[in-house]
Amino acid sequence: MSATPNGATTKPFVSHPIRLTLNGQDRQLQVLPWTTLLDLLREQLDLVGSKKGCDHGQCGACTVLRDGKRINACLTLAVMCDGAEVTTIEGLADGDQLHPMQQAFIQRDAFQCGYCTPGQICSAVGLANEGRAHNTAQIQELMSGNLCRCGAYSNIRDAIEDVVLGGDQ
Ligand code: FES
Ligand code: FES
Repeated sequence: MSATPNGATTKPFVSHPIRLTLNGQDRQLQVLPWTTLLDLLREQLDLVGSKKGCDHGQCGACTVLRDGKRINACLTLAVMCDGAEVTTIEGLADGDQLHPMQQAFIQRDAFQCGYCTPGQICSAVGLANEGRAHNTAQIQELMSGNLCRCGAYSNIRDAIEDVVLGGDQ
């Protein structure tokens, strides 16, 4: 406890220990209770692939996978990930072997400036894990939380179709 000029006392900020599997590696970290997963990744761990677009859950640029499910890292407190498995765009590839979704984005030229791309790819991997998209309209609807300011939507959709629908298109 410390005293303020008017005599009131304040409690020091207390960080919390968390343990998570991040991109396949066991990590033990100290985080402040208000630190978002996105700030933990970008500011503390130098994993800057996940982008801060709106910081309000509106754009999807910060999308990562928690236990295989897509989440907005800007709306997720780091302490909420204690015990979880978190995968970011940096952890999708297997060594030099890109994830099939990454390969599809390259093959379909599914990006322009690339700012939204890590979030698009992580979201698309989450979508594939969900198994709920069985046609183009469902892909578009279920990817609607990921915005692309460059308007590369048709190529993004094609890339995701390649992976999620395969030969069913
Ligand atoms: S930065 Fe998280 S949704 Fe926009
Ligand atoms: S490629 Fe530029 S925002 Fe999507």
